[in-house]
Amino acid sequence: MSEIMEMLIRRGFLWQSFEIYGGIAGFIDYGPLGNGLRRRLENLWREFFVVNERAVEIDCPTIGIEEVYVASGHATSFTDVAIECSECGKVYRADHYVKEKLGFEIDESVEAVREILKEFDLRCECGGKFKDPEPFNLMFETKIGPGRGKKGYLRPETAQGIFIAFRRLSDYFRDKLPFGVAQVGRSYRNEISPRQGVIRLREFNQAELEYFVHPEKKTHPGFENYREKVVKLVDKRDVEHEIELGKAVKKGIILNELIAYFIAKTEEFLIKAGIDRSKLRFRQHKDDERAHYACDCWDAEVLTSYGWIEVVGIADRGCYDLSRHMEYSGEDMTVFIPYKEPVKVKKKVVIPDMKKLGPLFKKKAKKVAEELKKMVPSEKIVVVLDGEEVEVPRECYRIEEVEEIVHGEKVVPHVIEPSFGLDRITYAILEHSFDTDVVDGEERKVLRLKRWMAPVQVAVLPLLSREPFTSKALEITNELKKVGIFTEYDDSGSIGRRYRRYDEIGTPFCITVDHQTFEDETVTLRDRDTTSQIRIAIKSLSDVLVNLLNSERDIREFGEVFRE
Ligand code: GLY
Repeated sequence: MSEIMEMLIRRGFLWQSFEIYGGIAGFIDYGPLGNGLRRRLENLWREFFVVNERAVEIDCPTIGIEEVYVASGHATSFTDVAIECSECGKVYRADHYVKEKLGFEIDESVEAVREILKEFDLRCECGGKFKDPEPFNLMFETKIGPGRGKKGYLRPETAQGIFIAFRRLSDYFRDKLPFGVAQVGRSYRNEISPRQGVIRLREFNQAELEYFVHPEKKTHPGFENYREKVVKLVDKRDVEHEIELGKAVKKGIILNELIAYFIAKTEEFLIKAGIDRSKLRFRQHKDDERAHYACDCWDAEVLTSYGWIEVVGIADRGCYDLSRHMEYSGEDMTVFIPYKEPVKVKKKVVIPDMKKLGPLFKKKAKKVAEELKKMVPSEKIVVVLDGEEVEVPRECYRIEEVEEIVHGEKVVPHVIEPSFGLDRITYAILEHSFDTDVVDGEERKVLRLKRWMAPVQVAVLPLLSREPFTSKALEITNELKKVGIFTEYDDSGSIGRRYRRYDEIGTPFCITVDHQTFEDETVTLRDRDTTSQIRIAIKSLSDVLVNLLNSERDIREFGEVFRE
């Protein structure tokens, strides 16, 4: 087990679920500290992608009915190729197994896997031969209700809940594009053989923004702030660029300004959350790698001990999802876009001739006339009458050109989706923050989390675990909690050991109540990163800490240095 993993489990960030029954791959519990860190990440995400956008957040069920995933394409296309050993029965995800054993990437198709198995005589780790490869759908199936019930699936992404509620959401935004709808919550993927610890989970946390735009306006007013921002890109031909975003769009490396905007915003968010910029890049999906719904996709990838891992996907889903749900549900998913000025257009229309239709269609003549009016003008028109197709003779209608005033157009919006894997980001932040240094001649483990991300932001420590130190420390703890600071009180062990514990879990500041506290109403305030301490009046503690926790200012600006 890696040093960081050992620490995360020992200190209560996370551990394997169902531990006392032996556990199972792909599930973790967040302990008190991991849960705190992930919640901070979620809230920071909301600030970036909901509060500061024209966007709202909704919350839909995590179980979806079958119809949703048939329409979305997941029921048929959301698959990986599985290979099962005919001797020991072990099942592997084919592309991962080939990469591990043969060292190269393969096309994710059954045919490609079949070829490779044959060509390289690839065997199971037990030496057994593999059965014929098969696609394996990654959705967890479930049954809703008793008896035969209704087939459902645990959602594989939060996005679908947003697409199927599009009509209501568009009404909420008064049908004015662009607008964004976010959802944060659990999603599920029945991974074939998750062997990457916390990285490949079967139940995971997503934060997704579906940003709906006019198909011809894939830009964002905020892009002007990022046009000159330099980012690290790896395009679909594996060519690396360190390039300004405006230039990347101009050169066609990035498809449109809206994707570029979300790349910039994602980078800002990840860095603010504690990802090391030197271990961050954006990689474009290759043509054979993209999900079934995407026409372009860029992953934010971060370098960890598992290699480069995808933590965010920024996909241009076009009108795929709304069109599919429109087709399968019959619900109108278009938005009416009014023109600035109404325009006159000439168009051809069908005018029924009742004198001819009457004798021919008798009682049904009126219905035929109504149907005719809806048809595209043509020399041959077929209408459906009581389920039967009937060709209407050409002499029964005229085709005329008329002038019409048109006030706007109906469009199926396109959607750009930045989708964040919160668990992976949480883990990457922990890896990137984990550090060791030497303090007082001893090696120290320290988690250099951003102050605003720390699950415990301040620890209040009585120098001695007896009165009056303990009561005073508890009183300060309660005061800090009242102003919203995540504060812990701790009186167990020597002060040195307590400092080490809080350094290791990433607590930016420790307050110590000591003898002098009872002389002049001051305490010491210790900074995790430098270990320097200042003396500070209790009455100014909350204001100073709120300031420090929302900035990267040096504590020495706020009081007399007590210890460097
Ligand atoms: N919504 C994109 C994904 O789940 O990968």
